[in-house]
Amino acid sequence: MRIAAVVTAAGSGSRLGAEFPKALVPLAGRELVVWAVLRIADACDEVVVTAPTSHLAEFEDALRGLPALDGKRIRVISGGAERQQSVSAALDVLFAEGQPAPDVVLVHDAARGFQDPSVTRAAIAAVQDGADGAIPVVPVVDTLVESPSCAGTLGQSVDRDQLRAVQTPQVFAGAALRAAHLAHADASATDDAQLVRASGGRVVAVAGHEWGFKVTLPSDLPLAEHVAQVLLSAESQNALERQAP
Ligand code: C5P
Repeated sequence: MRIAAVVTAAGSGSRLGAEFPKALVPLAGRELVVWAVLRIADACDEVVVTAPTSHLAEFEDALRGLPALDGKRIRVISGGAERQQSVSAALDVLFAEGQPAPDVVLVHDAARGFQDPSVTRAAIAAVQDGADGAIPVVPVVDTLVESPSCAGTLGQSVDRDQLRAVQTPQVFAGAALRAAHLAHADASATDDAQLVRASGGRVVAVAGHEWGFKVTLPSDLPLAEHVAQVLLSAESQNALERQAP
């Protein structure tokens, strides 16, 4: 079974306020996009990363020569104007003629660089069990209301127990994802599950993880740096244990 991943990293990161793309922000000495690829690498055979056209070389440099990616094909391509177009461009590469089409495709936001690998495995298993798609979800912690009117009058309260926040990687049967993107190329979906469901696909939920948070605002960086440091010291510990006689 061929499992491929699309890692979307072509956003500008304007909300983060950095002078370079968000996915190149270093956390514990490693770019966010590198964290994102490494955290899903065990689950897939190849990865297509969508990057801003202006920074393709920097993304290629960041992803080159990582021992954990040995034997995996990693390609960096120009993303589109919106996330959906970035994913479509990556699918064009993965489904190009002359190579076997992937059976399963993960779509993962580089901005969620620390997702726990157990979430990825659970989503893949759900698709292998027959779902067209599987997406990680987590409970909503805030009390929610509908947007206020122009005059500032509060909208209706919303029962948060009925809602879930969606993370990535979202995992799909490859053919279902490709068909959904081709059928809804004019939509402007913020995730891929919307497109697969609009095509009649059955998408199931798996439990997400608190480390699947999206690095978006400057205030997300201290948590991201902390998680990166924790993961890095776990890596060092594992390496030491492997070397022990
Ligand atoms: O903007 P948002 O936070 O929803 O972006 C989610 C992910 O999609 C980010 O990792 C971002 O880099 C990526 N993206 C992309 N192409 C775009 C816009 C966003 O790959 N045109």
